[in-house]
Amino acid sequence: MVLERVPTGIPGFDELCEGGLLRDRTYLVSGTSGSGKTIFAMQYIVNGIQMFNEPGIFVATEERPQHLREHFSVFGWDLEKLEDENMLAIVDATSTKIGLPSDEKYIDVRPFDTRSLIDQMITIQDEIGARRAALDSTTSIGFSIQDPAKFRVELLKISTTMEILGLTSLFTCEIVDSSGISRFGVENFVTEGTIVLYYTRSENVRVRSLEIFKMRGSNHSKKIHPFEITDKGIVVHSREEVYSEI
Ligand SMILES: Nc1ncnc2c1ncn2[C@@H]1O[C@H](COP(=O)(O)OP(=O)(O)O)[C@@H](O)[C@H]1O
Ligand SMILES: [Mg+2]
Repeated sequence: MVLERVPTGIPGFDELCEGGLLRDRTYLVSGTSGSGKTIFAMQYIVNGIQMFNEPGIFVATEERPQHLREHFSVFGWDLEKLEDENMLAIVDATSTKIGLPSDEKYIDVRPFDTRSLIDQMITIQDEIGARRAALDSTTSIGFSIQDPAKFRVELLKISTTMEILGLTSLFTCEIVDSSGISRFGVENFVTEGTIVLYYTRSENVRVRSLEIFKMRGSNHSKKIHPFEITDKGIVVHSREEVYSEI
């Protein structure tokens, strides 16, 4: 049986994993702060719209949507236009959390509630018929739930719902150092694969690299590949490897 692939469209990435992610599965993108998780997730969503005509949902728990629109305009991504075209829905799960009012179209309630997020996804699905989603980040949800066992169940509910809704998704996860692949030790159990982004110091410069740590059903690269953040977003150097110790 040939499994359907969902290309991320991120230059150099898809060739590391037989053409892309598996359709209707959820993947974890882990990395320390500043490693490029939010850019990776948004580039996946924007490419889905622009290259594959697949609408996308971006759940933002850490940055207000207006900041995302502003920051990502430097990569030439006009998020507002994509939203106006009903190809992109950004859920503001940030403002209410910090007690600010929001005039966004899609707002998640406070405190975090899985049922409400799922209802929101179903409503958006009816409106835009998304095929891709990003949840940025699971870590802030983990902090609001606290108990790892409960967090695992809630994440499983979210990922399963996304899969049933026909969404191929990325969940980001902020780790504190590069010794682990998840923050609460449970996020990787509810996802089909884990991509780890590194931002490590090598002498007096920092180097970005990534690794496909796990990807079920895929003969993926087992190497660590350098990547860059350019004025068009992430570019992975798939033919190069990083040998130094991470
Ligand atoms: N236009 C740009 N060109 C190059 N690097 C950039 C650009 N915009 C952001 N970055 C880099 O990306 C980092 C933020 O990436 P982000 O995806 O927000 O990280 P994370 O979500 O992992 O914390 C910044 O700290 C900066 O180093
Ligand atoms: Mg981020």
